[in-house]
Amino acid sequence: MATLRGLRTTPQCFSRAIFHYSKGQKRFLCLSKQANSQLAFVSSEYNEIYKRSIEDPDKFWGELASTRLQWIKPFTEVMDCDMNVGKHRWFMDGLLNVSENCLDRHVNRSPESVALIWEKDEPGTHETVTYRELLKMTCQLANTLKNHGVKKGDRVCIYLPNCPLAVATMLACSRIGAAHNVVFAGFSAEALASRITDAGAEVVITADQGVRGGKTIDLKRTVDEAVSKCSGVRHVFVMSRTGADVPMGKKDISLEKAMSEESAECAVEPMNSEDMLFLLYTSGSTGKPKGIQHSQAGYLLYTNLTFQHVFGYEPGDIFSCVADIGWITGHSYVVYGPLSNGATSVLFESIPTYPDPGRYWETVQRLKINQFYGAPTAIRLLLKYEVDWVKKYDRSSLRVLGTVGEPINADAWHWYNEVVGEKRCTVVDTWWQTETGGIFIAPRPSADNSTPKPEFATRPFFGVEPVLLDSEGVELHGNNVSGNLCIRGSVPSMARTVYGDHRRYLETYYTTFPGYYFTGDGALRDKDGHYRITGRVDDVINISGHRLGTAEIEDALDNHPDVAESAVVGFPHDIKGEGIYAYVTLKEHALITPEDLRLQLKKLVKKEIGSFAAPEIIQVAPGLPKTRSGKIMRRILRKVAANEFEDLGDVSTLAEPSVVEGIVNEHKKLI
Ligand code: WT7
Repeated sequence: MATLRGLRTTPQCFSRAIFHYSKGQKRFLCLSKQANSQLAFVSSEYNEIYKRSIEDPDKFWGELASTRLQWIKPFTEVMDCDMNVGKHRWFMDGLLNVSENCLDRHVNRSPESVALIWEKDEPGTHETVTYRELLKMTCQLANTLKNHGVKKGDRVCIYLPNCPLAVATMLACSRIGAAHNVVFAGFSAEALASRITDAGAEVVITADQGVRGGKTIDLKRTVDEAVSKCSGVRHVFVMSRTGADVPMGKKDISLEKAMSEESAECAVEPMNSEDMLFLLYTSGSTGKPKGIQHSQAGYLLYTNLTFQHVFGYEPGDIFSCVADIGWITGHSYVVYGPLSNGATSVLFESIPTYPDPGRYWETVQRLKINQFYGAPTAIRLLLKYEVDWVKKYDRSSLRVLGTVGEPINADAWHWYNEVVGEKRCTVVDTWWQTETGGIFIAPRPSADNSTPKPEFATRPFFGVEPVLLDSEGVELHGNNVSGNLCIRGSVPSMARTVYGDHRRYLETYYTTFPGYYFTGDGALRDKDGHYRITGRVDDVINISGHRLGTAEIEDALDNHPDVAESAVVGFPHDIKGEGIYAYVTLKEHALITPEDLRLQLKKLVKKEIGSFAAPEIIQVAPGLPKTRSGKIMRRILRKVAANEFEDLGDVSTLAEPSVVEGIVNEHKKLI
């Protein structure tokens, strides 16, 4: 049987093992290496291991941390956590270095194994980088940063396209103890500047240009504009991606030139388990984006473990997560999860439709990809094309198909499973967040192959205890219930704080439902105890898997001199999942035409946030529906945007009920 994989008990297997508890004794078991015939057995094992992970997290995580990570100094205490005050402390007093865990230990064993395959934007072209080469690049970068004054604890801003140097830059920061702050290279100069300022970054790393879908993007120009607003920036390192002749100012330094002058060795900085590893900004329901702060050991252990078990990764596999490193998915499952396991990780620089809608599957065939991890929005886009775009490529290497970022609808799930995976692969719908650091709810290939369930993220990972609460904060027990999705108990990878604003961290995540972490999502638990994520319950919208706070977009719209007030909501969108619908009211004497206003407002949002945040529909509304106390009734605006006029609910509590009729009429003119 070609797919039968025996239980291998090589030393590597032990080092990658998850503990199996049996009769009170600890023994190792490589779950992902079970023969197919043993799947049922593994499935029943899940319950036992899961139960123990929740009942005795100290033992569960302590043993995993000591075997799966390489320590400079062992930790003395496993956990000190208190969900009432959002306190997560793991692996106390331990010293380790994340880049050593991701590079040196693999270089020592097999220097020539491939760490990264860079699938470049130019169709049909890829470059491989071995662990030895990646370590060399990382050390040269680390020395470059050090020699330009970057010290332990400093924040370095990275504004780069998906490429090996970007990964090396992240690892170089972790090598010297600096925290990286990667900003997705699609954010505008304004958005970049506010992140540089909030993080207090003195060094920015960028490229001359980026290339995506055959188009060049002037990254350096955006950085110049951003840096002109950030007086604290001392150096801007510029990598060459296209070789374009970009103007170089006083702060600018050619990255390759600086690196070439540096030694290829750099001693690692011993870091405390709880030191900051990175910041990543993400939107919430109110205010400006928050710098989510992650730790060293807890984050690394959790991404290391979930990578292996959620994707059924085995040594020698080629893993491909097509996310950009600018998002948490890229951090955890392009960089830290795969590299800490010594895996081969594909870095995808392009888009799903360039040069044609067969791009993903041509890449799968050429690189012989075993696990493919993508976003529902791309699947929804691709399923509109002829199936031949998929079928003409050999996909027999694929075993696992993952999705993340937003709910996947049944049509997209079935297409992924049947057309792409030929019903042979396990589809893993993975639910998690920037704040959770790693996958929290997902099926696992070793255990769930026989029970696919469209639209369900199914079960929590080991150590994660989801609970559903009603709006009063009362826990909903049993199955067949829906409520606010919260997490009871700490998990090593959870965010430690919001950079520079711990109070906001507590207010956002730990005060709505005291004693729990509040995710901001709603979920349903079905008769089998499996979870289905139903979407955000706050004012966060999800456009093509990009999370945006409505308040951020409203702030941008309100900057227009003619706009009196605005309210933004999401509406169902075929491909993007949600589209952005903006209602604006004008100041009394505004003379602008609606057409001009729409153009100017879209431009404003692109400038303040980025093109992906520009509203699809802008309604110049006669007024906004408000309660007598002045609160905007978004529920009504959402319904109108979704064409659900019949069921607007009770409008009698509005200050001016007639406004609703006005916005419905305007809406009908627009669509
Ligand atoms: C929000 C987090 C985690 C990596 C990418 C997004 C939504 C995420 C799923 C899923 C339904 C999902 C949630 C969550 N989400 N995965 N499998 N099914 N919804 O990270 O930008 O922090 O966004 O994305 O609403 O809260 P993020």
